[in-house]
Amino acid sequence: MNVLIIGSGGREHAICVSCKNSEFVSKIYCIPGNAGTESIAKNISIDINNFKEISHFVKKNKIEIVIVGPEKPLVDGIVDFLEENNIKTFGPNKLASKLEGSKIFTKKLCEKYNIPTAKFGIFKNSIDASNFIKKCNLPIVVKADGLASGKGVYICNKRDEALIAIKEIFNGRFGLTNEILIEEFLDGEEMSFFVISDGENYIPFGTAQDHKRVFEGDKGKNTGGMGAYSPSRLENDNLNKKIINKIINPTLQGLRDLNTNFKGFLYAGLMIINSEPFLIEYNVRMGDPECQTILPKLKSDFIKLISACVEKNLKSINLEWHNDKSLCIVLCSKGYPESYENNIEIQNLDNIKLNQNEFIFHAGTKKDNDKIFSNGGRVLNFVVRSDSFSNNRKKAINLINQIRWKNGFFRKDIGYKVIDS
Ligand code: AMP
Ligand code: GLY
Repeated sequence: MNVLIIGSGGREHAICVSCKNSEFVSKIYCIPGNAGTESIAKNISIDINNFKEISHFVKKNKIEIVIVGPEKPLVDGIVDFLEENNIKTFGPNKLASKLEGSKIFTKKLCEKYNIPTAKFGIFKNSIDASNFIKKCNLPIVVKADGLASGKGVYICNKRDEALIAIKEIFNGRFGLTNEILIEEFLDGEEMSFFVISDGENYIPFGTAQDHKRVFEGDKGKNTGGMGAYSPSRLENDNLNKKIINKIINPTLQGLRDLNTNFKGFLYAGLMIINSEPFLIEYNVRMGDPECQTILPKLKSDFIKLISACVEKNLKSINLEWHNDKSLCIVLCSKGYPESYENNIEIQNLDNIKLNQNEFIFHAGTKKDNDKIFSNGGRVLNFVVRSDSFSNNRKKAINLINQIRWKNGFFRKDIGYKVIDS
């Protein structure tokens, strides 16, 4: 069958590779894709916000399944639009995507279904929010409601910082808003927990830990993710059961009570405190770079799994995994997550010989006259799978060192909690 992947990051290149490895796939399209997807798929330059044009393209090219990578089109209702046009689409509908699109929607759901999460308040104006801040313990977490590309969360160690955050959010830094979320700070260890769902049934899809801060030792600004490893060191059967019973099941029940359901990848960002899970946030898609880290561990045919989801037949699937460890390091453009230069040639990439269980996934890259250039903040992902996180990291760094690109930087300490401590 022909498949279309929407997006242009490392996550989407990893999804393309999994499609390429499927015995059921004949042709892969990617909108808009990157230099990595170009070598195994046909990149198509259509605006991912133009659902109508995407729908025409799908029909014209006899595409049987569309897989949506990033959150924005999901939150904007791409799945509803394509399904109304009889196109099978893997991803949640607009209402279910509010789990990521509105932090306040999710908090209200947590409250109604007793899902463990940080204590919170929702405020409609800066006076009430500021008065509340005066009574809170520090640190205080202030959040914009909607999508903010990972920038709408302020962890404030001083009350003054929280007051500035409130001002910035109400002044429209993340779009017009009439509500703001203020939360208690949860002090524990983070873990990401994934499930894949067909709307009726779901299967756990692994755990991971990403490193969001730009500098080693988890210092500096937040990024989309500088690297990740899977499984999380916190994972165990007892905790998995708690996550499923206290967080995932009531969330899916909450959606059913709204007469909808969740089809796609659901990504729960959790804080684990004394072996108890608390929900920090939901994402309605795979993580990036968690997707690149987890997909190489999947033994089962990816498209068989995705087809089963869009056919509401996940029950028929028995997922098989490589039960080893996977680690991903992201090579970024100097200056990221702030300003950086694009269009700098990356040399020697195609000469690197990958051993079994070593993978390079492109993110911000583009091809011009057979040369590869940087085209974004996060540029390449180096993933290695084996029995040892420590070896994975060494091998990933060894791969990066073979690249000739003068504008790159990366964190050498990815996975330090599972390697160095
Ligand atoms: P997000 O942009 O929603 O992924 O949040 C960014 C990061 O902020 C999370 O990964 C957590 O590290 C941190 N965070 C968000 N909410 C809380 C909270 N209530 N307590 C502690 N840390 C938090
Ligand atoms: N790595 C975090 C995310 O994909 O949201």
